[in-house]
Amino acid sequence: MPIVRTLRGLVAVAASALLISPAARAEVGLNDLVEAWLAAAHGNYYSRSFTYWNKEGAVPEACAACHSEPGFIDYLGADGSTPFVVSRPAAINSPIGCASCHTAAAHALDSVRFPSGVTVDGLGPSAVCTVCHQGRQSGDNVKTATQGIEEDTVSPDLAFLNVHYGVAAAVMHGADVRGGFHYPGKTYVGRFTHVPSANTCVACHDAHTTEVATDDCMRCHRGVEDIRDIRTRHRDFDGDGNRAGGIHAEIVGLQERLYAAIQSYAAEVAEAPVGYATGTFPYFFNDSDGDGQISPDEALFPNRYLGWTPRLLKAAYNYQVVTKDPGGYVHNPTYLLQLLYDSLQSLSQRVEVDMAAIRRP
Ligand code: HEC
Ligand code: HEC
Ligand code: HEC
Ligand code: HEC
Ligand code: HEC
Repeated sequence: MPIVRTLRGLVAVAASALLISPAARAEVGLNDLVEAWLAAAHGNYYSRSFTYWNKEGAVPEACAACHSEPGFIDYLGADGSTPFVVSRPAAINSPIGCASCHTAAAHALDSVRFPSGVTVDGLGPSAVCTVCHQGRQSGDNVKTATQGIEEDTVSPDLAFLNVHYGVAAAVMHGADVRGGFHYPGKTYVGRFTHVPSANTCVACHDAHTTEVATDDCMRCHRGVEDIRDIRTRHRDFDGDGNRAGGIHAEIVGLQERLYAAIQSYAAEVAEAPVGYATGTFPYFFNDSDGDGQISPDEALFPNRYLGWTPRLLKAAYNYQVVTKDPGGYVHNPTYLLQLLYDSLQSLSQRVEVDMAAIRRP
């Protein structure tokens, strides 16, 4: 059992570092690790991610790989089942525990297939993270869904495509895996290579707390107190005339512009006002009273937005990709800026958008 091997490793390390009995030392190290895991998102038994299916009593196959420990074990084939498919519904209330990431199959995993069908190799210990944080859609699906429909025609065949949540790996690998919708004729950056010491999921995130030791960032990024103030490029990407904040502020600024353009396009071209409701599936709803906001009584599934044209769906899809990776400004800032710029440019062909001030990296 690899977990036993790993634990033996920990005993050896703890034993050489502390002057207490080997068994007690192991317990101290492991207890800390278990506490850290329990206090973090993967060990949170109460989160929506692990309780969402409690009424049904099981996590269905389509969801189990990422939302249940036995589901992930099943997906990797660590229980003897066929690898890379989930063969049966999995247990509810089963967060991502030690046994998820510490089976022989999980340790051996090095390649991961993304929703676009592209496989990325050489992922090492970050492969497990990449499986679950890759999202569930790709720009290819948007292309397929919109094919053959005139760009500005509202079509009942279209529905919002949600990339899913925590899509860090899809963003980090950028154009290599086509997580965003890529506009024809444009080129997009691939994986953000950053620097060798901060280039993989586990180089930045502690595998057990999932936290990032931001002090390490400041060794290179001097003169800022907050990682959101980091920037290495000094162009005004969002066109607000302000270059003082970090690259994070440029992405947020451009995203706000995209939201405004989505709303104008929906009202003027699709002739059905739209708004976005944070945290409520499927996110885009009819703004029936036209006040620019989605109130709780508008954010209901029967009131979901149906005025989709291909142009609107592409822009809204990219808007959601940016929204669902709040760390995207660290994972791959250029990719997000490119997706936002091109989505805005596309909408600007039909509604008024001031493109003069904004820049594409
Ligand atoms: C490829 C992995 C993967 C699959 C498959 C998957 N999810 Fe998720 N899902 C995630 C991740 C990762 C998160 C958490 C992201 C975060 O909080 O950063 C998440 C979060 C969620 C949440 C919580 C969202 C919120 O706003 O709090 C819901 C609900 C959810 N998923 C539903 C589903 C459903 C339903 C399915 C199956 C139809 C499914 N997921 C399949 C990876 C996946
Ligand atoms: C989300 C996946 C994941 C989960 C859950 C997880 N681990 Fe790990 N663990 C890893 C990865 C990845 C590494 C290797 C880290 C590296 O190479 O930087 C690791 C390393 C370790 C190590 C080696 C020492 C160290 O800290 O690097 C031990 C011991 C360990 N894990 C025990 C556990 C225990 C006990 C649990 C449950 C409380 C657990 N792990 C849960 C992914 C996970
Ligand atoms: C089996 C699927 C799975 C694996 C493997 C996995 N994650 Fe997650 N991750 C999730 C889910 C689901 C959530 C949301 C948990 C919650 O809402 O409590 C999450 C949450 C997170 C969060 C916190 C997001 C937040 O909302 O605070 C970070 C950061 C993260 N994961 C990074 C990683 C890293 C790094 C690895 C690899 C060491 C990894 N994950 C491996 C599924 C996974
Ligand atoms: C350069 C370091 C770095 C790398 C590489 C990196 N991350 Fe992150 N990640 C961060 C930082 C920093 C944040 C938090 C940003 C913030 O909150 O402002 C973050 C945020 C996240 C979040 C969202 C947490 C939340 O609050 O919802 C998830 C999930 C995540 N990372 C997973 C991953 C995965 C999976 C990988 C590998 C594919 C990865 N990260 C690679 C530094 C990194
Ligand atoms: C060893 C030095 C080093 C470390 C450590 C480091 N970075 Fe970087 N970072 C760089 C360099 C160099 C660039 C420019 C890379 C490029 O554009 O190709 C960069 C770029 C960035 C950018 C994009 C800035 C922009 O204007 O586009 C962000 C955000 C960032 N780093 C955040 C972080 C975070 C967060 C950490 C810690 C988890 C970190 N960095 C650790 C050297 C480092």
